[in-house]
Amino acid sequence: MGDSAPVLPSEVSTAAAGDDAAGAPAAPRGLWYLAMPGTRLKRGTAVHRTLLDEPVLIGRDNAGAVFAMRDICPHRAMPLSAGRFDGETVTCAYHGWQFGTDGVCRNIPSLVEEYRKTIRLDRIGTRSYPCREAQHLIWVYMGDDREAADQDLPAPPEIPARGRPGIAETLDLECHFDDAVIGLIDPAHGAYVHRNWWWRSSKTLTEKAKRYAPSELGFTMVRHAPSANSRIIRMLRGEKTVEISFRLPGVRVEHMTLGDRHTYVGVTAMTPVSEYRTAMHHVMYWSHPLMTLAKPIAIPVTRNFLNQDRTAMNRQREGRRKSDAAMLLPDADTPAKWYMALKKELAAARAEGRDFRNPVPETVLRWRS
Ligand code: FES
Ligand SMILES: [Fe+2]
Repeated sequence: MGDSAPVLPSEVSTAAAGDDAAGAPAAPRGLWYLAMPGTRLKRGTAVHRTLLDEPVLIGRDNAGAVFAMRDICPHRAMPLSAGRFDGETVTCAYHGWQFGTDGVCRNIPSLVEEYRKTIRLDRIGTRSYPCREAQHLIWVYMGDDREAADQDLPAPPEIPARGRPGIAETLDLECHFDDAVIGLIDPAHGAYVHRNWWWRSSKTLTEKAKRYAPSELGFTMVRHAPSANSRIIRMLRGEKTVEISFRLPGVRVEHMTLGDRHTYVGVTAMTPVSEYRTAMHHVMYWSHPLMTLAKPIAIPVTRNFLNQDRTAMNRQREGRRKSDAAMLLPDADTPAKWYMALKKELAAARAEGRDFRNPVPETVLRWRS
């Protein structure tokens, strides 16, 4: 990588995606990551996922509880996902070693009785990860400190009474985690990436001024009336308000009120798979019966929308092979700047063993979109 440094005006800064020199790894460890929507995991099944380059087996036991363990057999490295899970025990496909959902070995079939007395199975196992389900979302804690896992739960979104998501989609992006997260909080791409008759076009750019405040491990665009330049929003009746929050590692929650009775919540979370692969999860909850009626239309519309983001990010990845360009202009790129600052501060606070000090100021950002 490495362009020759461009000449930049003083109000423009740069931050290369994945720039570890800033002291912050691309995807911070010691945080909860959204592994998958819970609606995609039936009782008595287990699936493979790669999270932060680690192979993880995620399952749901017969009682409905979720678990996560390293997807590698400690005997001779067979992926456990190649074996069987009966709702209680994972059986390796190679020599049939069995593991509980806590990752601890329960049985080694090849052992004769004499050795069973001396070999302690409870000392053998594959690593288990803290794993929780909240609001039908499965989170895995990617860190080494189990106590931190107890303290630092992901903020589950506030969701309408019915609780279950109406739509849950996961897309694979071929892009760096930082580019994916920056794309998620970028306010200026809508009119170019999402050009649809039912959404908006680039001919209707208007000036926006939005108030922001620091919030847990991130920032929040404080509650306001949603922008009137998208046709879908204009179609819904009643007074609307929206609040959009972002928190590390890469979770965006949009909370909209529709009139005084109804709520919509959209959660979009980026989860790093490997260096240039990122999973984008998008989950939508609502209480409005009209939105349930519109679901057959909403599903393809949502997929189309998410695919536009994927196409943009995958194309950007092509450019990334040749360039680490990352100019940050006021104010549309300020959320990206904050994201880099949040990661840097998290790394510094941990290295110095002190509390996290949110670097985001309370401010108004202005841009045209
Ligand atoms: S590799 Fe898993 S039982 Fe041998
Ligand atoms: Fe987008």
